Amino acid sequence: DRHSFVKIVEVGPRDGLQNEKMIIPTATKVTLINNLADAGLPVVEATSFVSPKWVPQMGDAKQVMAGIDRKLGVSYPVLTPNVKGLEAAIAAGAKEVAIFGAASESFSQKNINCSIAESIKRFEQVAEMAKNAGLRIRGYVSCVVGCPYEGKVDPVAVAAVARDLVDLGCYEISLGDTIGVGRPREIQRMVDAVAKHISTSQLAIHCHDTYGQALANIYASLEAGIRVVDSSIAGLGGCPYAKGATGNVATEDVAYMLEGNGFSTGTNLHKLVNIGQWISSELGRPTGSRVARAMLAK
Ligand code: HMG
Ligand code: MG
Repeated sequence: DRHSFVKIVEVGPRDGLQNEKMIIPTATKVTLINNLADAGLPVVEATSFVSPKWVPQMGDAKQVMAGIDRKLGVSYPVLTPNVKGLEAAIAAGAKEVAIFGAASESFSQKNINCSIAESIKRFEQVAEMAKNAGLRIRGYVSCVVGCPYEGKVDPVAVAAVARDLVDLGCYEISLGDTIGVGRPREIQRMVDAVAKHISTSQLAIHCHDTYGQALANIYASLEAGIRVVDSSIAGLGGCPYAKGATGNVATEDVAYMLEGNGFSTGTNLHKLVNIGQWISSELGRPTGSRVARAMLAK
């Protein structure tokens, strides 16, 4: 039905900023996260407890978690690739963590330095500890339609990794078109393949907009029954291990499309547009949101 709630998962402070070359002040990140929660977003992915040698921009994860306000009803998940990251996340007061795998072997190696099978073994331990600590666990599958190193990815491989992550205790699986190459039919075929094993109520779509297909792909995902959409304010971002990939679809654009299509998101579009403008000016670049550009030109 079209009159339902769609949960937007804001990934700007993590996915959006992780690839920025200049180290952004922690205070700017904290302000960004607080403002995004204030704009009505129910989930604001805050940071990553990953190796600072691999992703220097996320090196202040502990300080970010210490600085943010925790708004009631808002979740602030953080990425945890291994036990070391999980322990640090728990110490920093995280209540939700995300483990992240891939449907392509080469991307898994480049991104987390292990094979897909090794990653699942590693996540088993992370998930076990997280559950014992009472945390919620989200799972990501990267390269759900295409891989920067291997090309096309088989939906069957996506379904297998997604199923493994659910079996480890993930309450939701975010299907990532990491390099933004997918087209609506490919996305729909992939979602249908995964939905044979996992209810669409447990799936999220995570589109990067490299080829300008993100909104169309999100629409296709909605048609396939998905009701959780990852996006990034002002379209910030890119993955350090996916060269040339641009940011996620802009949160402003997703909110505009959904609210005009009979879905509710709980977000305030004007606030989102203002936040997007502010962070874009902090980073010294124009916004990647078409909706923001249009609204600000009026
Ligand atoms: P590794 O080098 O194999 O790890 O990296 P290791 O266990 O051998 O440890 C090496 C060093 O890293 C040691 O330090 C560890 O202490 C340290 P040293 O003894 O050399 O001084 N270390 C850590 N430090 C802090 N926090 C940690 C941690 N773990 C080890 N958690 C590892 C393996 C997974 C750590 C590394 O590959 C890594 O950090 N990868 C993260 C990459 C990343 O963050 N990528 C971007 C996020 S994924 C993404 O963007 C896709 C997504 O958006 C969905 C989509 O779009 O598809 C989610
Ligand atoms: Mg991503």
